[in-house]
Amino acid sequence: MLNIPLMSNNITKEDTQCLIRFLETTDRFTNGPKVREFEQAWSEWLGTRYSVFVNSGASANFMTMAGIAQIYGMGEVIVPTITWVSDISSVIAAGHTPVFVDVDLKNMAMCEAHILEKITDRTKAVFLTHVLGFNGLSESLLNELKKRNILLIEDVCESHGATLNGKKVGSLGFASNFSFYYAHHMSTIEGGMVSTDDEEFYQMMRMYRSHGMVRETTNEGYKKNIEDQFPDLNPEFIFMVPGFNMRSTELNAVIGLNQLKRLDDNIAKRRENFRLFIENLDGKKYFNEFDTEGNSNYAFVLLLREADPEFFKQLTQTLREENVEFRRGTAGGGNQLRQPFVRKRYPDICPTDYVNAEKIHFYGMYTGNYPGLDRRKILELTRIINKI
Ligand SMILES: Cc1ncc(COP(=O)(O)O)c(C=O)c1O
Repeated sequence: MLNIPLMSNNITKEDTQCLIRFLETTDRFTNGPKVREFEQAWSEWLGTRYSVFVNSGASANFMTMAGIAQIYGMGEVIVPTITWVSDISSVIAAGHTPVFVDVDLKNMAMCEAHILEKITDRTKAVFLTHVLGFNGLSESLLNELKKRNILLIEDVCESHGATLNGKKVGSLGFASNFSFYYAHHMSTIEGGMVSTDDEEFYQMMRMYRSHGMVRETTNEGYKKNIEDQFPDLNPEFIFMVPGFNMRSTELNAVIGLNQLKRLDDNIAKRRENFRLFIENLDGKKYFNEFDTEGNSNYAFVLLLREADPEFFKQLTQTLREENVEFRRGTAGGGNQLRQPFVRKRYPDICPTDYVNAEKIHFYGMYTGNYPGLDRRKILELTRIINKI
C-alpha cells in the first residue's frame, strides 16, 4: 500500500522544542511582542507594508470583508464558485452581495473575462481565491481592475509563495488573506493573516481583531482625535467598529516564526513534487494543462479529462485501497453553489450554469503533497492511477 496522508509532519520536533523554550522563559502568552515579530517577518517575506495575525484564515476573510464594508460601504463582491465557504459567508456576513463567477480549468481561479463581465457600478471588490497552489492572477486582470478602481482582495490560504511574474501573490491586490491551518504550506496549528499596503485598512484590521477597540490602532493622531470626539468615554474602551475577537497567541506566533524559516525550502520541494506528478500523469485520462508558472501546490490535483462517473468511482476505490488520502472537488469541496447555505439564500442561481466548477465538483480531487514525500511514491502513485 502506498500510504500517503494529506499532510505529514507539519509541526516538527524543532517547532515544539522552540515552543517549550519560549514557555519556560515568558510571562506573556497572548497577542504581544512575538505576534508583532511574526507579523513583521511575514510582511517582509510577502513584500507588503503591514500584516495582522489572527486565529484562522476564515477570521482573516471575515475581518477583511467587514473592513471593506466599513471603509467603502456595502455592495457587490465578485466571488468564485470554487473556493472555501468563508470566502462567501464573510461577504454575506459583512452585508455585501456575492456575485458568482465560474473558474478556468488551467488554474481553477475565476475566469478573467467572466469577472469583467460581472463588474457593475455596485461592485466594491473582486475577492479572488488562488486555488490549491496555482497563481490565479494575470497582469491584464490587475490592470483592468486598477483602471476601473475595483479593489482586489486575494485569498492565498491555499497558495503561499505562488507568484505572478516573480512577484508573490498576496502582495498584488489591496489586501490578502492567508491560513496557517495544519494542512497548509506552513502551520501555526490554527492561524491566519491579513496583509496590506494600505495604512487605513491596516489600522481597521487591528481594531476589528480586538472588539473594534480604538486603543488597538498604532496611529496616535487618530487615537487622540477619537478620544477628543468622545470625552464621555473611557479611552481604554472606545468601540469604533463592530469588531470581533479574532486574536491569536504568542505561542502560535512562535511556531509561525520558526516555520517561516523553512517555508521557501518546503515550497521548492513541493513544486518539484508537483512537477514530477504532473509530468507522469496520463494526459489522455487526466487534465494536465494546468498553468504551473509560479505554482506552489500543497496538493496533487486530479481532474478527469472526460466526465466519466464510473472512472471516477474506480479512481476513488483505487486510492482507498492504496490508503492514499484524498478530498473530492477542491479544498472547499467543489462547486460552492451546491452548498445548502447558498442554495437556500439564492434559489434562482443554477449551479449547473457554472460548467467548469461543475466539472471540478464531480470529477476533481486532490491528494497530499508534502516536502518529505518520497519521489518513488509519487511515481508509483501516477503509475497506479494511470493504469485505471
Ligand atoms: C481558500 C481558503 N480560504 C479560507 C480558508 C480558511 O482557513 P482556516 O481553515 O484557517 O480558517 C481556507 C481553508 O482551508 C481556504 O482553503
